[in-house]
Amino acid sequence: MKKNLFIALEGIDGSGKSTQVKLLSESLSQSGHKVYTTFEPTKSEMGVMIRNIFSGKTEADQGTIAALFLADRFNHILNRADGLLKKMEEGYTVITDRYYFSSYAYHSVHMPMNWVIDMNKPCSELLRPDITIYIDILPEVSMDRIIKNRESTELYETLENLTAVRNKYLEAFEILKEDEKVFRTDGNREPELIAKDIFNKIITL
Ligand code: ADP
Ligand code: TYD
Repeated sequence: MKKNLFIALEGIDGSGKSTQVKLLSESLSQSGHKVYTTFEPTKSEMGVMIRNIFSGKTEADQGTIAALFLADRFNHILNRADGLLKKMEEGYTVITDRYYFSSYAYHSVHMPMNWVIDMNKPCSELLRPDITIYIDILPEVSMDRIIKNRESTELYETLENLTAVRNKYLEAFEILKEDEKVFRTDGNREPELIAKDIFNKIITL
């Protein structure tokens, strides 16, 4: 089984990404991988700014939001303390909860998708996932989970927006199908079944 993989998990809010990152991390560790898990937006200063915008504490236009995510991603890839490239060099299998496909999907609801893809090109050149796992879930199911599990909802968490974001994910996968390896799994199932599906795909890489 190939080690030292870079795996990105994607999906709309509440699709079960964190749940699957945890399950995948456990099963890969058991298979002898040295696993490092991470997420975007990160805990960097850019990440803090992003979270302040999402909670409504500060206001920003859509271009600024997309650019902040890009800055956060550059730092995520390159920072010398615990950046993705450093972790890859150290031999880890790195699993990230969200990467550039999140930008393609969320920001292209408001901005041209090509603009978002182009601005992220340096990131795909620096570090392209060995595979992007897309957890596909109905926006209605996702909204139900979000409402049940949280005291408040964030900026993008409306049924209308999550439906638009899901469509944009599918559009981005189509546009980039020659460049990116994407595995789509049905997220409207039991977590263990989804985890099995993902693991079975990873061992074929
Ligand atoms: P995300 O990281 O994509 O926002 P989470 O993994 O945090 O999603 O899951 C959102 C909520 O849905 C959590 O309460 C989680 O326990 C629950 N959940 C996750 N996966 C499933 C699933 N396959 N079926 C039902 N509920 C799930
Ligand atoms: P996250 O904390 O992963 O939310 P959740 O656990 O609900 O999936 O991400 C916060 C929000 O950031 C989420 O609505 C998606 C959005 N986002 C973007 O808009 N652009 C991006 O590039 C990324 C990585 C996330």
